[in-house]
Amino acid sequence: MYDTVVRNGTVVTPERAFEGDVGVRDGAIAAVGAPRSLSGETVVDATGLTVFPGFVDSHVHVNLSLGEFTTNDSFADATAAAARGGTTTIVPFAIPDEGESPLAAFERRREEADGSAYVDYGLHGCATRADDRTLAELPDLIDRGAASVKVFTVYRDRLMLTHGEIRDVLEAVAAGGGLCLVHAEDEAIIAHLIERLRRRGETDYSVHAATRPAVSETTAMWAVADLVEETGCPTLLVHVSAGRAGTVLESARDRRLPLLAETCPHYLALTEELYDRSDGEKYVCSPPLRDGTSRDALWSMLEDGLVQTVNSDHCGYDAAQKRRHRDDVTRVPNGLPGVETRSAVLYSEGVATGRLSPTAFVRLTSTNVARMLGLYPRKGTVAVGADADLVLFDPDAEWTVDGSALRQASDYSPFDGREVRGRPVTTLVRGRPVVEGGDLVGAPDHGTFLPTSGADAPDLFSGWHRP
Ligand code: URP
Ligand code: ZN
Ligand code: ZN
Ligand code: ZN
Repeated sequence: MYDTVVRNGTVVTPERAFEGDVGVRDGAIAAVGAPRSLSGETVVDATGLTVFPGFVDSHVHVNLSLGEFTTNDSFADATAAAARGGTTTIVPFAIPDEGESPLAAFERRREEADGSAYVDYGLHGCATRADDRTLAELPDLIDRGAASVKVFTVYRDRLMLTHGEIRDVLEAVAAGGGLCLVHAEDEAIIAHLIERLRRRGETDYSVHAATRPAVSETTAMWAVADLVEETGCPTLLVHVSAGRAGTVLESARDRRLPLLAETCPHYLALTEELYDRSDGEKYVCSPPLRDGTSRDALWSMLEDGLVQTVNSDHCGYDAAQKRRHRDDVTRVPNGLPGVETRSAVLYSEGVATGRLSPTAFVRLTSTNVARMLGLYPRKGTVAVGADADLVLFDPDAEWTVDGSALRQASDYSPFDGREVRGRPVTTLVRGRPVVEGGDLVGAPDHGTFLPTSGADAPDLFSGWHRP
């Protein structure tokens, strides 16, 4: 007799799909059995539904404050929205405020999150300086459970590090046994193009993609690949958008570098023509949306394993915040809301169209990133001993995205009006329902902090092993 049995669903793990029951005891998966073979005090009927491992979203901005605007969500909001999207673990960023150290930012974020989350959460550290104090703190940050440290090659005067500084951070993160995350775009190319367009009087949001061409992304990516080779630091390139990134990633694979890549649903489903619309500012994100060729190349990179994970890069700005400075592209807050729609958009565009198998979908939405962050096999699979983080997903649900009806902290979605096939229905976090039939039923103190660690994942890291 189990506490809960999820009965008679199609269970999908990173390796296979099968009809069966999942038995839960004390918050963990205690049995996986044949259909209708297990009994429990509570039975959740999954007939006709797919049972996925709870999704892990490792790129979520919560209460992000960059310059003039702050996103509209608290940890409770972001984790509630995540749960409605079937996501049972989010990993937001602890970006230091001006003058704050990475460790202080981490502690501040922990205080903000602890007791205020519907789903489990980790935290990425961030190095926005590379002075001796920062570098000295990084091993401690990694030991305290923020094993992934993000750096930015853009956002001058606030977040940006030079290549020399990034080399120092990579060295420190490698020595501490962590993982580096890099936002890779070339600041100098972007600043030059913005200035050139400004002289022509072209300053509004519609030039966004033109100011950040694919070459600004690949230039930065090549430099990162070389720095990874030099320092031996396992590194994840976040939000890869350019089709030509494939050349960099193929080269990295040939060189057996521990270089991983992430993309986001908006780069897989949307294109730059949206910047021609009269409300095009709503789609301003960095890197920008690109052309259909890039979009199609990203799908190939998912299929080839060059891109191993799809995360939301959720930024809960609302339409008014995006609109405020639409006449000056440099002042439109960057980023799109998406923590709630990630799984359905990827399922609809990937699995429902036949481009991705259900098992590949599981690897891209949970397993691979759980492995990068040392959370696997506790997270990222359906197996005995894993946390009972389960999503009951209706593969046949057809619905139209309406951002104003979502729980995520924005009044619009970049996917507004899109017809989607597939939708999470019920979400369990460590055996407890957090969303049932689409309704939030969980408690905002159920989520717990998950310390991350630098895992060894040689098959993801092109055969490279941690020393
Ligand atoms: O446009 C984006 N991606 N904004 C969020 C911050 C970042 O660069 O990840
Ligand atoms: Zn970024
Ligand atoms: Zn981001
Ligand atoms: Zn190894």
